[in-house]
Amino acid sequence: MKKLLEILVIGVVLSAVSFNSSAEIKSLRGPVSLDDESEMFDKRKLVKQKGGFERSFKIQPPLIPHETEKDKITLQTNTCMKCHSKKNHEKEKAPEIGESHYVDRDGNVLEKLSTRRYFCNQCHANQVDAQPLVDNEFAGAK
Ligand code: HEC
Ligand code: HEC
Repeated sequence: MKKLLEILVIGVVLSAVSFNSSAEIKSLRGPVSLDDESEMFDKRKLVKQKGGFERSFKIQPPLIPHETEKDKITLQTNTCMKCHSKKNHEKEKAPEIGESHYVDRDGNVLEKLSTRRYFCNQCHANQVDAQPLVDNEFAGAK
C-alpha cells in the first residue's frame, strides 16, 4: 500500500512538472482546451528555394521548394506528375521522380510510377518560415 502511495505521489509530481514546462511552449493549436474548437492559426509564408533545399541525410525525401497550392492528388489525377514524370520532366525543367518511385513492393522495376509512391505529400513537404517550438541541436548527416 505504501509503495502504491509512493508511485502515486511521484506520478502527480511528474505530471505537474511536465504540465508546467509544456505551458511555456506555444503549439500551433495554442492554449485552447481540448474540448473547445481550435482557432485558425496564423498562416505562415511559404519558403521557396531555387535549386532545392539541402538534404539532411542521403535518402531523405527532398523538401518541396515551390508552391503546391494548385496541385491535386486524387484517384483520377496527380498534377505533380505533369512536371516530374519521365515523359515531362525535361520539357518542364524539373527533376524526374527518384528511381525508388518505379519499384513496386516485390522489387520489380516498373515503367510507370509505383502506386506506393502515388501520394507524394506523404513524404515530400513544403516549408514555411517557422522556428522550432523547443530548442534542439539537430544537425544533418555529413
Ligand atoms: C509546374 C511544374 C511542377 C509541378 C506541377 C510540381 N513541381 Fe516539383 N519541381 C518543379 C521544378 C521546376 C523543381 C526544381 C526547382 C528548383 O530546383 O529550383 C521542382 C522540385 C521539386 C522537389 C525537390 C527535388 C529535389 O531534389 O530537391 C520536390 C520534392 C518536388 N518538386 C515535389 C513536387 C510535388 C510533391 C508536387 C505536387 C504536389 C510537385 N513537385 C509539383 C516543378 C514542378
Ligand atoms: C514513400 C515516400 C515517398 C513518396 C510517396 C514519394 N516520394 Fe519522392 N522521394 C522519396 C525519397 C526517399 C527520395 C530520395 C531517394 C530517391 O531519389 O528515390 C525521393 C526523391 C524525389 C525526387 C528527387 C529525385 C532526384 O533524383 O533528385 C523528386 C523530384 C520526387 N521524389 C518527387 C516525388 C513525386 C512527384 C511524388 C508523387 C508522385 C513522390 N516523390 C512520392 C520518397 C517519396
